[in-house]
Amino acid sequence: MEVRVQNVRKEFDRFPALHDVSLDIVSGELIALLGPSGSGKTTLLRLIAGLETPTTGAIFFGDTDASEWSVQRRNIGFVFQHYALFRHMTILENISFGLSVRPRSTRPPAKEIRRRAMELLDLVQLCGLEKRYPNQLSGGQRQRVALARALAIEPSVLLLDEPFGALDAQVRRELRKWLRELHDRTGHTTVFVTHDQEEAIELSDRLCVMSQGRIEQIGKPDRVYDHPSSPFVFGFIGSSSELPVTVENHELWVGGHAIGIPAGDTPPGQARLFFRPHDVDLIEADASLTGVVSATRRVGGTRRVELGIGGSDHKVEIDLPFDHPAGEKTRLAFRPRRWTLFPAA
Ligand SMILES: Nc1ncnc2c1ncn2[C@@H]1O[C@H](COP(=O)(O)OP(=O)(O)O)[C@@H](O)[C@H]1O
Ligand SMILES: [Mg+2]
Repeated sequence: MEVRVQNVRKEFDRFPALHDVSLDIVSGELIALLGPSGSGKTTLLRLIAGLETPTTGAIFFGDTDASEWSVQRRNIGFVFQHYALFRHMTILENISFGLSVRPRSTRPPAKEIRRRAMELLDLVQLCGLEKRYPNQLSGGQRQRVALARALAIEPSVLLLDEPFGALDAQVRRELRKWLRELHDRTGHTTVFVTHDQEEAIELSDRLCVMSQGRIEQIGKPDRVYDHPSSPFVFGFIGSSSELPVTVENHELWVGGHAIGIPAGDTPPGQARLFFRPHDVDLIEADASLTGVVSATRRVGGTRRVELGIGGSDHKVEIDLPFDHPAGEKTRLAFRPRRWTLFPAA
């Protein structure tokens, strides 16, 4: 099901949790809502589910304005961070729940409900555990049951609010891969909320980055990573270094030195240079950036050093090969290979 969020604003006691948000969710895609805590992700999800109503704006399911529809009518599958399985029900009963509480006219026969629940148990790879109770499963298994339960009603849209948030890092990574494969097989339109950029990038077809109740950028994960549209997105996704620069004579200057980077269309004056720590070349040239190492730490297979930039009181981070001899107080010269310029704030 295609879902269109159109100019939605949501206030809680006059406090705007969402400002004029518009988002088209394509049928069958897995879209991630990514943003820091408090950016409005859950509010947007609850609006799509029908658990909240917009202060202004509308939500369309297909071509129909569904803003006034109940949760039931929207036919939503929901999974929350804290597995809300029914503790007194077996796994099979949990998965069957949504179908077994339907009014008699739309309820499948008991045998059919059982057959579907067993099929879903198989889909989430928990065959043989149908008679267990939730407290007899691991956290990761419980979240897979929660997902099977959400899928049982054949939802138009699947909404997942930080479903792996309470699990440890390794289980999260496994479930992430598992969910992606499951989505590729079942093709449900899915909105996945997370504050974990790695999770969002690895899992989603499209990424919707949110900050302070607004959508900052929407696009394919690679596109957002390679072409962040704002300083916020650059800083939030992937590692980044920022340096205030001056634009003059169509190039960039720091502390009275040209640093060998053309200014492109950026007008003269102050600007903010962003680059990735791994996207730099170490070069000794007249026009390069120089800095003195003030700290060094290991990041994966490389060494990330913090440099105090000459001619400014700013620090940036760059990556060095692990065996690079630089230590504290070593002077290094470098130039970003790729970068983005934003106007000064
Ligand atoms: N029911 C509510 N009443 C009042 N304020 C709320 C309510 N729900 C959310 N908010 C506020 O709206 C903002 C966005 O919250 P939320 O959507 O939960 O963000 P996220 O899920 O990105 O962490 C926060 O400032 C939060 O305090
Ligand atoms: Mg939330």
